[in-house]
Amino acid sequence: MFHLNNRALAAAGLLALSVSVFAMGSRPKGDDEGTNKRIAPVARVELAAAAAAASGDRSGEQIYKIVCNACHDAGVANAPKLGDKAAWAPRLAQGLDGLVKSATVGKNAMPPKGGSDANPLELARAIVYLANKSGGNLKEPAAK
Ligand code: HEC
Repeated sequence: MFHLNNRALAAAGLLALSVSVFAMGSRPKGDDEGTNKRIAPVARVELAAAAAAASGDRSGEQIYKIVCNACHDAGVANAPKLGDKAAWAPRLAQGLDGLVKSATVGKNAMPPKGGSDANPLELARAIVYLANKSGGNLKEPAAK
């Protein structure tokens, strides 16, 4: 559900931003300073809205499918594959906290946060999604 909302929000933000930029470009020369000053606050607000939608309240599955699948679907660079219970069992033994810790800072070929812009809750959800498809039985942390 909020998948769509986020997309719509991001699209709206980007659209508004490009409209402002277009407006800036079409102003007569000489008035650029004033135009920039008038438009700047609007552009900032639109940018903030787009950023919030981009890294907001995404589900573990969403994050997984945006970033983590690049390595964890096929086992790139020896990443433990989604669904590979044998590969995940020893990792699951450290519990969600341990997994969150290593995924946050990164581990060997695994970049910090998997290279994603996930916030801590989103990252934890992605780990729960991945782990629970791989023999785990972790509980998703509650939203704050
Ligand atoms: C560039 C490839 C890559 C991406 C992208 C990636 N990972 Fe990984 N991940 C790895 C590799 C490689 C390992 C194995 C690290 C090791 O144990 O040497 C790993 C291990 C893990 C582990 C186990 C850590 C541990 O302590 O054993 C978790 C949890 C994890 N990844 C979660 C994620 C999540 C969630 C994402 C997406 C946000 C993600 N990864 C994206 C490569 C990746």
